[in-house]
Amino acid sequence: MKENLDAALNKLKNTFDARPKIGIVTGSGLGGLVDVLQDAVRIRYEDIPDFPLSSVDGHQGEVVLGQLSGVSLFVLAGRIHYYEGYAMSQVVFPIRVMAAFGVTTIILTNAAGAVNKSFQAGNIVTIRDHINLMGDNPLNGNNPFVDLSDAYSGELRNLVRLTADKLVISLQAGVYAAISGPAYETPAEIEALRRMGADMVGMSTVPEVIMAKRLGMKILGLSIITNMAAGISGKPLSHQEVIEVSKKVSPKFNTLVKGIVERLV
Ligand code: HPA
Repeated sequence: MKENLDAALNKLKNTFDARPKIGIVTGSGLGGLVDVLQDAVRIRYEDIPDFPLSSVDGHQGEVVLGQLSGVSLFVLAGRIHYYEGYAMSQVVFPIRVMAAFGVTTIILTNAAGAVNKSFQAGNIVTIRDHINLMGDNPLNGNNPFVDLSDAYSGELRNLVRLTADKLVISLQAGVYAAISGPAYETPAEIEALRRMGADMVGMSTVPEVIMAKRLGMKILGLSIITNMAAGISGKPLSHQEVIEVSKKVSPKFNTLVKGIVERLV
């Protein structure tokens, strides 16, 4: 990997006083989380050495450190996607930086299409496992053979379940299939994914999970269902709709995340 970890790390250490243990990556339309942080300090990706730039609508491109309910958080507001043309090593570089900065628990969030027909737009889903169909892997070339048999921490999934029950937020659990994108899937592909055991589909998160697991982090994955996947509802898919739905769900989502981090300390 040719990215310079030390240069990026030094920049962050010189910018931030806090040393959060919990990190969050905000998915499409979910970046509003940073607006509810107290004492937020920000730095733009373009000001961090070797940080890739997020070019997608609905993603800001800032590292924001701040407090939620008094808990210090490291937020990557603006995800880097493989479909933007970045190498896997670039996609996961911010995760390496986060881990080196001291983050030990990571909450990865995303917008996803429902493959499971019992899910609905607006649902929040805990990821219990994934299927990597991206055709690439961030550990390619070095760091082989990471065990992914319990990538998504059972303890954190239980904690989310308890938190959601307490807050009366409905919560599903499911398997996330990652495709490279950037095209949405065909109805035949969605049917194939369903038969494979996927409940939702998206174009992110899995590379970050693999790297985070390699680095020994505890991982929680949360999807917001923004649409029924291709061929289910007959409605055309659009990124605009994905952003609109996730923005609509984001207050409920932020409440859930707040409840989770309160229980994490
Ligand atoms: N497919 C792939 N990625 C997505 C979808 C989808 O239907 N919705 C949101 N991200």
